[in-house]
Amino acid sequence: MAKENSKLWGGRFSKEIDQAANDYNSSIRFDKRLYREDITGSIAHASMLGKQNIIPPENAVLIVKELKQILTDIENGKINFSEDAEDIHMNIETILTQRIGAVGKQLHTGRSRNDQVALDFKMYVKKEIQTVMQYVKELLQTIYDISADNIDTIMPGYTHLQKAQPITLAHHLMAYFQMFRRDYSRLQDCYDRMDTCPLGSGALASTTYELDRFFTAKELGFAEATENSIDGVSDRDFAVEFTFCASMIMMHLSRFCEEIILWCSNEFSFVELDDAFSTGSSIMPQKKNPDIAELTRGKTGRVYGSLMTMLTVMKGLPLAYNKDMQEDKEAVFDAADTLNMCLPVFTKMLATAKFRKEIMKEGAKKGFTNATDAADYLVKNGIPFRDAHEIIGKMVAYSIQNNISLEEIPLEKLKEFFGNIKEDFYEAISLETCVNERKVYGGPAKEAMKICLKNAKAFLEN
Ligand code: ARG
Repeated sequence: MAKENSKLWGGRFSKEIDQAANDYNSSIRFDKRLYREDITGSIAHASMLGKQNIIPPENAVLIVKELKQILTDIENGKINFSEDAEDIHMNIETILTQRIGAVGKQLHTGRSRNDQVALDFKMYVKKEIQTVMQYVKELLQTIYDISADNIDTIMPGYTHLQKAQPITLAHHLMAYFQMFRRDYSRLQDCYDRMDTCPLGSGALASTTYELDRFFTAKELGFAEATENSIDGVSDRDFAVEFTFCASMIMMHLSRFCEEIILWCSNEFSFVELDDAFSTGSSIMPQKKNPDIAELTRGKTGRVYGSLMTMLTVMKGLPLAYNKDMQEDKEAVFDAADTLNMCLPVFTKMLATAKFRKEIMKEGAKKGFTNATDAADYLVKNGIPFRDAHEIIGKMVAYSIQNNISLEEIPLEKLKEFFGNIKEDFYEAISLETCVNERKVYGGPAKEAMKICLKNAKAFLEN
């Protein structure tokens, strides 16, 4: 009897799928990027089937050999995938069977596309996590290098984007080091948690064949095999977690970009980006724009979009596999692609940026960033902090009226605010003192920064 439906699953169908439905259902246009994971998974599966005598060992050898050839052919651009074969899994199985005939049809023994896709996707995400971790590490190294050179570079620290207290560029940048170090460990954590192999879960209820799931798990570089076959095929937590990790990294990059954009402005002028990482205007000849930083800030939105996609796709799904889950791939691919573009270009932009130390220091001199230290001076001279705050507040108001800074108030005048004030007040409120007396662990003082940098170095060298 002639076959009525040409699909690999066509046996029970009496007519061909509608063309529009076929194209709608098909995922090959985007899941073809999983070809390597799919073939690697199939090689491990076929080897295990042979080892277990589930299929004749010589057939397993033939299947493995041809799968390797298919991989080479794909990489040499010799293979065109077909929309009719729906997804990467069926495309490769179809090609295999076209090439080695009936033996190829044994590959799918004891396997479902549900455990197959879960496996491929996990392998892909594991690989992407490693790539992203490497990029994060390079960024951390760059932040460290700039910081190590700038433990004496004084700049204003801000709260509410108003000048607050003097800090150093090293102290400011090392705050980002902490964020990205957490991102790094979050990725590691995500990797470790997802490191379980779903192959052998079958469609949902595993299989009656005596599969050696621990063999395939080991072959494919997983720490363990999944413990429940329903979870094995229906779990996409790893994809949600990955897009969350990606979103967090983008959020950190975006905050950093926002500061760089501000610092590039004429109003701040704290930083000048290298020409190679800036763009001009088609109309205004003077312009030098921080497009790279702006684009990174903007791309944060699309990565958050991937996270929302993943959370929303999964939220109403009954166990186990549902076709909705085919929507997981583009979200994850886009998040990974975006990160893999943003991170290295951002790192290069940062590494080549020139910080304008004199302007930063001038910035710290203005805005009364030493007012807290002035109050602390009074406290050390026996005034309760609240009263000291009040007295220095009055000094600030006086300085604003006279358009001077606190250290420019003559001693005679200072005494009108606080009788016991002495010459050493000026030293106590110098920017250097303000910074270097904050030697509390985690503070901006050179002493404290050296410890922070030492820890960072140990992390980077590990
Ligand atoms: N293309 C599918 C996906 O990405 C593969 C799994 C299909 N399984 C199924 N039973 N239809 O999710």
